[in-house]
Amino acid sequence: MNKILPLKKNDELTVKIERLGANGEGIATHDGAVIFVPFALVGEECLIHIVSVKKSYYFAKLVKVISPSPERINAPCPYFSKCGGCDIQHMVYQKQLELKQIIVKNELKKFANLDIEVLGVVESANQFRYRNKFAFPVQADAFGKIKIGMFRRHSHDVIEIDDCLLQSENTKKIIKIFKDYMTENKISAHNEESGKGIVKHIVVRENENSFILTVVVSDEKFNNFEPLIKKLKTEFSSFGIYKNINKFNNNVIFGERDEHIFGLKELECNEFQIKYFVNNRSFLQVNNDVKNKIYSKIIELVGNEKNVIDAYSGAGLLSSIIASSGANVYGIEIIKEATQNAENLKRINNLNNLTNINGDCVKELPKLAKQFKGDFSIVVDPPRKGLDEKVVNSILNNSPSKIIYLSCNPTTLARDIRLLSEKYMLNFIQPYDMFPQTANVETLVCLSLRQ
Ligand SMILES: C[S@@+](CC[C@H](N)C(=O)[O-])C[C@H]1O[C@@H](n2cnc3c(N)ncnc32)[C@H](O)[C@@H]1O
Repeated sequence: MNKILPLKKNDELTVKIERLGANGEGIATHDGAVIFVPFALVGEECLIHIVSVKKSYYFAKLVKVISPSPERINAPCPYFSKCGGCDIQHMVYQKQLELKQIIVKNELKKFANLDIEVLGVVESANQFRYRNKFAFPVQADAFGKIKIGMFRRHSHDVIEIDDCLLQSENTKKIIKIFKDYMTENKISAHNEESGKGIVKHIVVRENENSFILTVVVSDEKFNNFEPLIKKLKTEFSSFGIYKNINKFNNNVIFGERDEHIFGLKELECNEFQIKYFVNNRSFLQVNNDVKNKIYSKIIELVGNEKNVIDAYSGAGLLSSIIASSGANVYGIEIIKEATQNAENLKRINNLNNLTNINGDCVKELPKLAKQFKGDFSIVVDPPRKGLDEKVVNSILNNSPSKIIYLSCNPTTLARDIRLLSEKYMLNFIQPYDMFPQTANVETLVCLSLRQ
């Protein structure tokens, strides 16, 4: 029989924080049961308010820090703790890095039964203003006033913001211009409950001094962009605008159809001597500095390999970089537009040793891998859910000499390492701080075939 927990909702008590959880939250215990306290740090004595009682644990709100940790700082963002974007702005940066190293270590222990040293997390050159893309929801409040901002923690209510410290300095200007444009031109924001109103989201991708703004609207007939173009021109000289139509009331930002409205269609970028183009729909790692650090390490790990499969290859940037260093590269990507993008990279950069395959890794990998008879390495960079079991089996059956695994989710990474350890040995594991101020961590791993 389950023990009945002694604390009740709305109880207030003082606790000492014992450790940090996988989302950077403080963890205390009371009568053997765990209490999760977001924004509390290890060693702190805190007054907390119980907000929910589960079967064997509690969630609490931090009311007051009675004895602050030396690792606590004042979060620079005024929206921190209300906005759902950042989790750990209250921690000194060094502590953020330690937390991520421990998260990776703990997940490996828990899901791969591996008790190993994990290298220190590679820092991001910028702890703030590092993102190259932002997506802000647009809503109207009960009186019709427009709110552009971020979703409140665990909610679909938008808190109005005038800047986001993870985005570039341009963000402030773009938000202000967009809000003025909507107000002056009586353009309505979409209301999730009534299903009425036009503008749902604005999405911006930036590169140096250029950007592409996508306005996500519910009504395809909406076309009043002239005043927006005029206003943006007063501040910016290099930008483009798209309209995206999303008629559905769901959690997905983009609908299927895009219409180019004005200016730049894509942003031109050049890295690792590869020329490439991105827009708001292309997958690109959000932190350029950390992306480049990871890609450099991948090139080093690939070494002199003759054949490389790049599974989950996105818009083909990594495949192109590996191909430019000499290997025959085979990218596999499920999204058609992303593969088209990869084909453009191949053409523009004259990469005759690159083959882009559009399809599901589950189906394409077994067919492709068979032909190399073990004479290949594989790079995998899957979404958060990790590798499909069939992909793991195909790797095990075809025995690439090396598996280079880039992961944005340490839990699924650890699960997959456990499955692959049947034939592979883990010989490199390095976390990277792709997302400072959040508890997310990117991890690069290299496994080699046991002899
Ligand atoms: C994390 S991104 C990696 C992109 C790329 N490696 C890069 O660094 O730019 C994951 C990619 O996997 C693709 N994807 C998801 N499931 C897939 C599947 N079953 N087969 C092939 N590609 C898939 C997604 O469309 C996405 O582009």
